[in-house]
Amino acid sequence: MNCTILAIESSCDDTSAAIIKNGKVLNNIVATQSVHKKYGGVVPELASRAHQKHIVPVVEEALRQAGVQKDELSAVAFTRGPGLLGSLLVGASFAKGMAMALNIPLIEVNHMQAHILAHFIDEPKPTFPFLCLTVSGGHTQLVVVKDYLDMEVVGETVDDAIGEAFDKTAKLLGLPYPGGPMVDSLAADGNPFAYDFPLSEMQGYNFSFSGIKTAILYFLQDRIKQDPDFIQNHLQDICASVQRHLIEMVMIKLRKAASDLNISQIAIAGGVSANRGLRAALAEEGEQSGWEVFIPDFQYCTDNAGMIAMAAHFKYLAADFSDLSVTPEARLPL
Ligand code: KG4
Ligand code: ZN
Repeated sequence: MNCTILAIESSCDDTSAAIIKNGKVLNNIVATQSVHKKYGGVVPELASRAHQKHIVPVVEEALRQAGVQKDELSAVAFTRGPGLLGSLLVGASFAKGMAMALNIPLIEVNHMQAHILAHFIDEPKPTFPFLCLTVSGGHTQLVVVKDYLDMEVVGETVDDAIGEAFDKTAKLLGLPYPGGPMVDSLAADGNPFAYDFPLSEMQGYNFSFSGIKTAILYFLQDRIKQDPDFIQNHLQDICASVQRHLIEMVMIKLRKAASDLNISQIAIAGGVSANRGLRAALAEEGEQSGWEVFIPDFQYCTDNAGMIAMAAHFKYLAADFSDLSVTPEARLPL
């Protein structure tokens, strides 16, 4: 069987297209939007306009690089949700238009499911069941992955996502958006034990990140009163200390779930899985606890169409197609 799928991702502020041929992701073209930097966060209206501008060149580039003609495509896939509605609409409308024009099946993909399925793009691949900690700008979830398309959320954040905690900390420190990667690089040269913050205690496998954000705010206000240049003088230590706490908060739940559910294959996924501190903490815990750990390649951590393509491949094999009347869902559950 020859199966070539074009996948489109447009859930937030990255416009991306990828081609997957018989289960192998051939490329992953991503156009990021710099327009949001000066606003300190993603402006939804500007994001959808930028998607409209980028989507045709990004798709053309993916097809060109893969040497695939439109009439060779077996299906077109797109991110249905969760995400920003205006952004999702651009990818969904484009995919529907192509599916209709080429008379090929349309495949809707859940963005959070795709983050997890990114683990099947390259070796080593986990086997079922495995536990995945999905950490992004909008979500923090512990998921038991029973099969490619059979996943159960066993814990999630009750307020902010961990990526938001990184980004909001960065904003308090005067760093540009998105702050997560900046906190990560500054933390590399800081002392993670310089400052202490309270760790929130949540029931079961749930997470909460709003308390630490407030604690950091009060901590900074207090220190700045004594030393107006406190942030500039201690930026690396602050980043390293905050990062240590955020990582510990997810590691506590990961250890608990792995032990309770007796699962020793552990994966991380989503934008924050690019964080070097988290990657190192997971690798170290894996050695200590005898886990087999799965850490995605950097290009498949943050939003990308490669992961949408991988998910679409499994849905294609299951003949799980969508009707052209399908609409995007900003809050699509896993
Ligand atoms: O998965 P993603 O690209 O988009 C969503 O689906 O939300 O995740 C974006 C989030 C942002 O909050 C960003 O700051 C965070 O991932 N992020 C990081 C790093 N790279 C991206 N956070 C910490 N360290 C990083 N290296
Ligand atoms: Zn994402």
